[in-house]
Amino acid sequence: GGTAAPLVPARATLPALRRAAAGCTACPLWERGTQTVFGAGRTRATVMLVGEQPGNDEDRAGEPFVGPAGRLLDRALAAAGLDRRDAYVTNAVKHFKWEPRGKRRIHQKPNAAEVRACLPWLEAEIAAVRPRALVCLGATAAQALLGRGFRLTERRGQPVPSPLAEVVIATLHPSAVLRAPDDAARREALAGLVADLARVAELLR
Ligand code: URA
Repeated sequence: GGTAAPLVPARATLPALRRAAAGCTACPLWERGTQTVFGAGRTRATVMLVGEQPGNDEDRAGEPFVGPAGRLLDRALAAAGLDRRDAYVTNAVKHFKWEPRGKRRIHQKPNAAEVRACLPWLEAEIAAVRPRALVCLGATAAQALLGRGFRLTERRGQPVPSPLAEVVIATLHPSAVLRAPDDAARREALAGLVADLARVAELLR
């Protein structure tokens, strides 16, 4: 399998990383994606949020979490007393993986080889930002950073001892809230996401 590692610049500032990642062909996903969607946010952000991969809207905009999942994330952050503008937001995989269904582009989960190929970008972002808190949104991000054996359902919302940051936590992906089967399930999932983010805010105080 490929890896982005040889593409990571030696002086890995965020602008240098973003420029280098724009030309990444380390896994086959670049062929279908419109563009690399690199992380966005403050260089010295206290909190880094890591999603799975850009979605349809992010692929077109070139920015992470700007579609429906992003709006839900903004609401959840605000409810938890955190501000997206003070955070750095990125994804485990930086190209949109999709399959055509009629005229629509249907999201597909990245596989382990794609996550592995892309990991050097995420590691370089963490090293450049050095956030106090690292929040994995969903199992893909959690397994990329905490190991393939990480079980989100068992350990969500619990701080994980890790050399990656002072506070490392995994929680639901905002898309999981949007996919909940009914209103009650959606409210419960959102409350869980907000509670986990509020825990992060509390641990940072
Ligand atoms: N879902 C993600 O995981 N990341 C995005 O940027 C958008 C939707």
